[in-house]
Amino acid sequence: MTGKAKDTNSFPHSHLLGIEGLSASEITYLLDRAETYVEQNRQADKRKTLLRGRTIINLFFEASTRTITSFELAGKRLGGDVINMAVSASSMQKGETIVDTAMTLNAMHPDVIAVRHSDSGAVKLLSEKVNCAVINGGDGKHEHPTQALLDALTIRRRKGKLAGLQVAICGDIAHSRVARSNIHLLNTMGATVRLIAPKTLIPTDIAKMGAEVFNDMNQGLQNCDIVMMLRLQTERMHKNFFPSIREYFHFFGLTYEKLANAKPDALVMHPGPMNRGVEIDSEVADDIGRSAIREQVEMGVAVRMACLEALTLNAPEQDLNA
Ligand code: CP
Repeated sequence: MTGKAKDTNSFPHSHLLGIEGLSASEITYLLDRAETYVEQNRQADKRKTLLRGRTIINLFFEASTRTITSFELAGKRLGGDVINMAVSASSMQKGETIVDTAMTLNAMHPDVIAVRHSDSGAVKLLSEKVNCAVINGGDGKHEHPTQALLDALTIRRRKGKLAGLQVAICGDIAHSRVARSNIHLLNTMGATVRLIAPKTLIPTDIAKMGAEVFNDMNQGLQNCDIVMMLRLQTERMHKNFFPSIREYFHFFGLTYEKLANAKPDALVMHPGPMNRGVEIDSEVADDIGRSAIREQVEMGVAVRMACLEALTLNAPEQDLNA
């Protein structure tokens, strides 16, 4: 879901709340725009003036390294003013609600608010209370749209396409917003998605999203082009989902032995942060011939620049009384 549509622009949305509902051409538009920023980000002078005078607020209620830093870099490299709100030092600690916080920030005329929150749906709720663009930086187990876009850009650059690829998403599917956004995006772009996890970490109705489910990693990885590993999100687990970390790694941790089931040129990915020795062997993660994990982080800045550009340049004039 992406908020109310505008009538012009190749990305005719007021917000980026999820990948669900985006068309293939809208996704391609964002990836193409991001591609133009990859080279710029490799130059000594990375600064543009496209967003001069625009204000971006990062409002992260959950921990982040990659997403918050890349939104900050993206905004600054486009010439915007970026503020990282320290939620732990904000008036939310005095009882102010997320809605009141959003409306307070809105009164300061930001152009974009990037939000991360532990509750699925919280970012959409916030978007309904402000009249600037809102980007979902991850909401609970729901969606993490910019992660799926940066994953897609990484894959497209390495494989030259998305359509027709076999992509395995492995690990803690049950708690993963990254998995959900990637399933939506990859299906929309014509890739085939396999989900590999123990039965306890696969939601019963996930196949309805358009994915084949495997509980055996050696079977699931057969002939895959992309092996996308997920972190065990223990912070969202309120019961035991597997007997031990040791056993989890034995059956579902990515090793060279298991990777040998995939295509010889299969690309290894992980959104980060990684739990080395839990869902992925360190040697595989650091193998520059197989792993695109560092490149994913690089693509994150370019993708977030494209999203900021798309949502700000065609934004309607703000009306605080609306
Ligand atoms: N992949 C991702 O969202 O990383 P962070 O939690 O560090 O932002």
